[in-house]
Amino acid sequence: MSFLEIRDLCLDVGGFELNNVDFRAEKGDYVALIGPSGSGKTLLLETIIGFYAPEKGKILLEGGEITAFSPDKRQISIVYQDHMLFPHMNVFENIAYALRKKLRNEKQVEAEIRQITEILGIGGLLHRKPATLSGGEKQRVALARSLVVRPKLLLLDEPFSALDTRTREKLRGLLKKAIHEYRTTVLHVTHDFEDIWMLANRVIVIRKGEVMQEGDPDTVFRRPSPDFVAEFLGTNVIKGEVKSRRGKLTVLEVEGLEVYSADLAEPGEKVTVSVRPEEIILARTAVESSARNTLRGKVSGILKKEHLVVVEVVIGSTEIKVVITPTSCEILDLEPGREIYAIFKASNARIISRTGIRTDWK
Ligand SMILES: Nc1ncnc2c1ncn2[C@@H]1O[C@H](COP(=O)(O)OP(=O)(O)O)[C@@H](O)[C@H]1O
Ligand SMILES: [Mg+2]
Repeated sequence: MSFLEIRDLCLDVGGFELNNVDFRAEKGDYVALIGPSGSGKTLLLETIIGFYAPEKGKILLEGGEITAFSPDKRQISIVYQDHMLFPHMNVFENIAYALRKKLRNEKQVEAEIRQITEILGIGGLLHRKPATLSGGEKQRVALARSLVVRPKLLLLDEPFSALDTRTREKLRGLLKKAIHEYRTTVLHVTHDFEDIWMLANRVIVIRKGEVMQEGDPDTVFRRPSPDFVAEFLGTNVIKGEVKSRRGKLTVLEVEGLEVYSADLAEPGEKVTVSVRPEEIILARTAVESSARNTLRGKVSGILKKEHLVVVEVVIGSTEIKVVITPTSCEILDLEPGREIYAIFKASNARIISRTGIRTDWK
C-alpha cells in the first residue's frame, strides 16, 4: 500500500479524456508532473482534489478510498498560478480562514499562523491586504494558507510560473523548507525543469491525458522513453547501428562516425541513443579516447539565454544541442559555420531503444 494511489483513473470532460492514469506516491514524495500545455495536468489535479468525479478508477490516500469524498473532506490543498486570495481580508485573515474550520481555539490558530508565516518569511505582512503585496509575497501567502491546515497532500499547479527567475528561486527554497518541516507529500505541475532538480524526487510525464513515463528525475531525463518524452525533455536523440563490442563498450556507427556507448546492444541492432545537452562539451581540437566520443561537426546556431548558451551543432544530417556557459562560448569564439568537436563520455551515450525494443524499463 502506498501513501497516495491513483488507480486507473478515467475522466471524460467531453472532448478531452484522462486515460487510465495510474501511479503511486509514498509519504514525503515530491512528484513533479510535466507535460505539454493541454495534456490534462490541471484536470488530473482537480480530479484528485475532487472537483471532477472520474468515470472509472480510484483514489486512495493513506490506504483509505477518497474517490467519492467532497473536496473539503480529502485533506488535500491546492495552489494555483494565480494566488486567489480574498482581496478584502488581510494576510492573517486569509490564512486563518480555512484553519478556523479545523481549530476552534483562536490561540492555536494564531500559533499555527505564526509558525508557517515565519518559515515562509511573511511574518511581517500579516496586516497587509493582498493588493499591497508583490507577486512573490502573494504566492507565499497562498502557500501558507494551503500548508497551515497541514494537508496530507499538497497540489501545486504552476505556482511559480508568473514570477521572475530570482523570486522563483527564492520561493523554491522557502517551499522546500516548509514541506520538509510539515512533512507534506506534494504533486507539483510545472513547466520549469529547475523545479524538478531543486525539489522533486519523482517525475511523471503526461501527454493527451496519458502517463508516458515516470521515475526518478535522473532516469527520466537521462533515459527518456524514445520519441515524445525525449523530445519534450530536450534530449539529443541520435540514431545509429551497432558495429561491434569492444571491451565493455558498444561501438555504434552514426553518420559514418564511431560512437561508443557503455550500454549493451548486439552487433547489427539499430539503436536510438540519448545524450543530454548538458553532458556534451565543445572543443576546437579533437581528443582521442574510447571512453569519450569526439565527433566533428559544424556550429549551425547559437542561442544565448540568461545564464547559458545553447549551441546547435550539425554532424552529418544529425543536429545536436549542447549547453555551455557564456564564458566557454567566448573562449571557443563560436560562430555559425565554425568547425567544432562535440565530446561526451561513452557512459552518457544511453541507448534508449534497440531495434524496436524499448530500454526504458524501470
Ligand atoms: N471543464 C472542462 N470541460 C471540457 N474540457 C475541459 C475542461 N477543463 C479542461 N478541458 C480541456 O481539457 C484539456 C486539458 O486541460 P488541462 O488539464 O487544463 O491541461 P493542462 O493543465 O495540462 O494545460 C484541454 O484541452 C482543455 O481545453
Ligand atoms: Mg494547467
